[in-house]
Amino acid sequence: MSKPIVETENLVKVYKHGKIEVHALRGITVKMPNGKIIGLVGPSGSGKTTLLNIIGGLDMPTKGKIYVDGIDLTKLSEKRLAEYRLNKIGFVFQFLNLIPVLTALENIEVPMILAKIPKEERRKRAIELLKMVGLEDRMNHKPDEMSGGEQQRVAIARALANNPSIVLADEPTGNVDTDTTIKIMEIIVKLNRSLGKTFIIATHDPIVKERCEKIYNIRDGKLVGEEA
Ligand SMILES: Nc1ncnc2c1ncn2[C@@H]1O[C@H](COP(=O)(O)OP(=O)(O)OP(=O)(O)O)[C@@H](O)[C@H]1O
Ligand SMILES: [Mg+2]
Repeated sequence: MSKPIVETENLVKVYKHGKIEVHALRGITVKMPNGKIIGLVGPSGSGKTTLLNIIGGLDMPTKGKIYVDGIDLTKLSEKRLAEYRLNKIGFVFQFLNLIPVLTALENIEVPMILAKIPKEERRKRAIELLKMVGLEDRMNHKPDEMSGGEQQRVAIARALANNPSIVLADEPTGNVDTDTTIKIMEIIVKLNRSLGKTFIIATHDPIVKERCEKIYNIRDGKLVGEEA
């Protein structure tokens, strides 16, 4: 296998609320292949979101090691971690989280504004990305003027704005119907093939699973199986 995009060693996450401890991850050791569509599959509460959050630098492990693209996340300062999240990772969440007062185009520009990309370049790239997800004709629509699936495609375009190494998607088809799920997955496959991006997708959906090239089964915070 070429250099793994994500490598963990005995990753542990314990959430503490006063005296109550929740063991969300109980020692996950994994090497995830670069450039693939990867699925994290497991029952509710098994630790999928926790793992995505740690890979994305939104949360830190309690114990263990996590390297993404060779970077030891536990060694990064807050400032470097913020840069990492902005430049290396694209996020797509289950609950549509576009900014309601902005158009599709403007939503895609937000991460580029944070990355200080000049206005003209930003606009050009946002239009390109909208074309990639097949929504150039919705450019000036606000989220509530689009369907759930269209909004999710805008979220995927936005996740790619700063040309990240990995796109993390937490139940990206959780709120859409079967036809829309198929369409979203077609777009993800297309982007994976054309741009070579790694997608890591937490899902329960058999249609999503089918399109994954590698699946990790998680149960009770542990890796219990892999399917190529
Ligand atoms: N911030 C938190 N504080 C305390 N416990 C948490 C926190 N986040 C998650 N947990 C707990 O950690 C465990 C793993 O949660 P996680 O959200 O990773 O599961 P999941 O596999 O994503 O589930 P789902 O399929 O329902 O989204 C659960 O028992 C959950 O209650
Ligand atoms: Mg979850």
